[in-house]
Amino acid sequence: MADEYSQSTKQYDVAVLGAGAAGLMAAIEAGKRGKSVVLVDHAERAGKKILISGGGRCNFTNLHTTPANFLSENPHFAKSALSRYTPQEFIALVEKHAIPYHEKTLGQLFCDRAAQDIVTMLLAEASGAGVELKLKTGVRGVERNDEGFTVTTHDGTVSAKNVVVATGGLSIPKMGATGIGYEIARAFELEIVETRPALVPLVFSPADEEKWCDLTGLSADVVASTPGSPYHPARKPEVTFREKLLLTHKGVSGPAVLQISSYWKPGKPVVFDLAPGQVVFDLMLAPDAIRTAEAMAYYLKETTLPQRFATRWMRLNTPEQWKNPQVKGLEEALHRWTVVPAGTEGYAKAEVTAGGVSTAELDSTTMGVKKMPGLYFIGEAVDVTGHLGGFNFQWAWASGAAAGRAV
Ligand code: FDA
Repeated sequence: MADEYSQSTKQYDVAVLGAGAAGLMAAIEAGKRGKSVVLVDHAERAGKKILISGGGRCNFTNLHTTPANFLSENPHFAKSALSRYTPQEFIALVEKHAIPYHEKTLGQLFCDRAAQDIVTMLLAEASGAGVELKLKTGVRGVERNDEGFTVTTHDGTVSAKNVVVATGGLSIPKMGATGIGYEIARAFELEIVETRPALVPLVFSPADEEKWCDLTGLSADVVASTPGSPYHPARKPEVTFREKLLLTHKGVSGPAVLQISSYWKPGKPVVFDLAPGQVVFDLMLAPDAIRTAEAMAYYLKETTLPQRFATRWMRLNTPEQWKNPQVKGLEEALHRWTVVPAGTEGYAKAEVTAGGVSTAELDSTTMGVKKMPGLYFIGEAVDVTGHLGGFNFQWAWASGAAAGRAV
């Protein structure tokens, strides 16, 4: 098989590298336009990350997708692709295949049954569009030749007039993530925005670990923010998310933390409002109020935090005196619990990789490399990263469709 493949002289119109969400979509769209397409992946099956996504139910899009749901050095870059392949277009595909789905919350659409439905749908579309799928075929590099490109794999070479790089980011190496997309970009002298784990749990400093980590599993509704994040698209001074925070055996996680982690920079604080929109200790300001840590913890538990979280928070924040300024100070501290994480749980636990191939190198309508006609980058490999909630798949579908319709 290897020899037969390595001796193949067929030249494809398009070689798509990576049979994940973005690559499958690009291959389908190109195939539907009559292009000969080969879709290459080193995994033993296509769409492995789709299968584990959304807790096995795949949060395949978000009804409220806007460019503001994405981080990038160029916040305008994603607009074109997102407007030309909308969530409604993907939903139409899902409905065409009679896949049952539901809105969980905040516009997040999930499969009723399993993520496998989405992979089966994409493979059926790819097969219908005549896409040739080459699995267990690791990509090693891409070179320009007279007629197009030569893709070197562990199993011979593939020739194609166009190459679409859809090999994803560095998140979850156990699932087959590699940095090959960045290596290919570097080989063509393209700029790469420094990568970092995103949508990832944060790790406490040893001192905070000591204070909090025995409370693993407790959660609270919070507003998370990163003062002065350098990553916000509009360079706003503060980015905020109101969702759940979860204490873990290493630090903090939960949707609020995953969201804010994408904006966090090492050494910077993350601030949590532990009682969003509430005034918790106002009754304590009355002259005859019983001011004890137990009483305060009671109010905390009644209004915002689980009991053990409330008791611990009060124990760690009990003032030396119980005068009104101290009570007001406690209220303030509750709304600004400031943590300086020691780090993140890294690519092993990150849902996505932020940074990647610089959008400055790409045409936003086609995802083509401006200085290298015929070469395209899509999906997570590009410096466009979505918030939690189906936005990353929407970017994969939209950027994949943009390239697939342009090759
Ligand atoms: P993706 O990583 O999907 O695909 C890249 C492909 O390239 C893979 O098939 C890989 O095997 C292949 N490849 C890599 N190196 C190669 C090489 N050297 N040679 C050949 N092939 C190679 N998003 C969302 O919107 N909703 C959700 O519910 C979730 N849930 C979720 C859960 C978990 C646990 C994770 C880790 C991530 C999510 N995500 C998500 C994020 C989402 O999975 C992600 O954004 C997309 O899969 C990115 O799609 P791509 O096609 O760009 O990369």
